[in-house]
Amino acid sequence: MSAFKLLLLPGDGIGPEIVDEALKVLKALSLPIETQMALVGGAAYDAHGHPLPDATLKLAMQSDAVLFGAVGDWKYDTLDRPLRPEQAILGLRKNMGLFANFRPAICYEQLVGASSLKPELIAGLDILIIRELTGDIYFGQPRGIRTLENGECEGFDTMRYTRPEIQRIGRVAFEAARKRNRHVTSVDKSNVLETSQLWRDTMVELGKEYPDVTLEHMYIDNAAMQLVKEPKKFDVVVTGNMFGDILSDEASMLTGSIGMLPSASLNDKKQGLYEPSHGSAPDIAGKGVANPLATILSAAMMLRYSLDQNEAADRIETAVKKVLSQGLRTPDIHSPGTTRVGTREMGDAVVQALG
Ligand code: IPM
Ligand code: MG
Repeated sequence: MSAFKLLLLPGDGIGPEIVDEALKVLKALSLPIETQMALVGGAAYDAHGHPLPDATLKLAMQSDAVLFGAVGDWKYDTLDRPLRPEQAILGLRKNMGLFANFRPAICYEQLVGASSLKPELIAGLDILIIRELTGDIYFGQPRGIRTLENGECEGFDTMRYTRPEIQRIGRVAFEAARKRNRHVTSVDKSNVLETSQLWRDTMVELGKEYPDVTLEHMYIDNAAMQLVKEPKKFDVVVTGNMFGDILSDEASMLTGSIGMLPSASLNDKKQGLYEPSHGSAPDIAGKGVANPLATILSAAMMLRYSLDQNEAADRIETAVKKVLSQGLRTPDIHSPGTTRVGTREMGDAVVQALG
């Protein structure tokens, strides 16, 4: 097998620290993976004046997968929007066609106490949020800020989905549900929005091709409520770009810490970008206290989805459970009676636990 080409994009804030730990774990598996590293986000802006330089994008397009840390820092918030660090991640998603975003929310039994919700609500929780990632109000045109005839300023964005875009992400959700508990909740706002009406009609139509999967529909406001009321009712949740952005952050809190949540963004060629669901956390950057587990678990998702190395992915996931059982905790998931460790110690412990 020719070597798998992995591009590392550590980015800003805690990005470099957590990507280092994931790389350590990958290396310990001795797989034929060739790595390259490039700048992205604020780090790329500082060096080259753009958050996603052509050279970085080119390397990403040529790689089999990208392992992404995080981007952003308050100091870039005053830049023109196209130059802000977040544009790098949007540019990678769009250019690589990464339309399917998998955000699993799993509550590890060892962390049941770390969530702000009652333990009985979340013990055993295993939800998969599938977020459409290249359409919707994030990319819809026209958008802008304009001056009206009366001299007032108006900001506007456009929510758009085509039927093929909805079908494409819908299929991903139904197929994923077939490997799980065969239940899909499609989230929309079809009581108000035309885009959502098309979303719902398309999902209903598509659902007929998957009679073995139960399809349920929920409005986004109700879904946000049900997610904290009775989270275990969900199996696969499929939704558009913006609703998925919001729901996936909400779901992360069910698991105890956003520091635990991996994600995968895939195109139709199994090329993927893997990143923790959390951000760059500039407040704790460089302090060696960031939780590297979401990034390590993202590397496991990469092995599963882009390399077909299920066994190696299982090994990482089992090792993560093992270190949690050993009582090791970074500050974000620390509770009385457990052992507080830093970013590196956590990474080392996972390597040790690979067995
Ligand atoms: C996410 C983030 C991004 C998004 C930002 C950083 C552009 O919040 O991946 O959820 O909104 O998609
Ligand atoms: Mg988000």
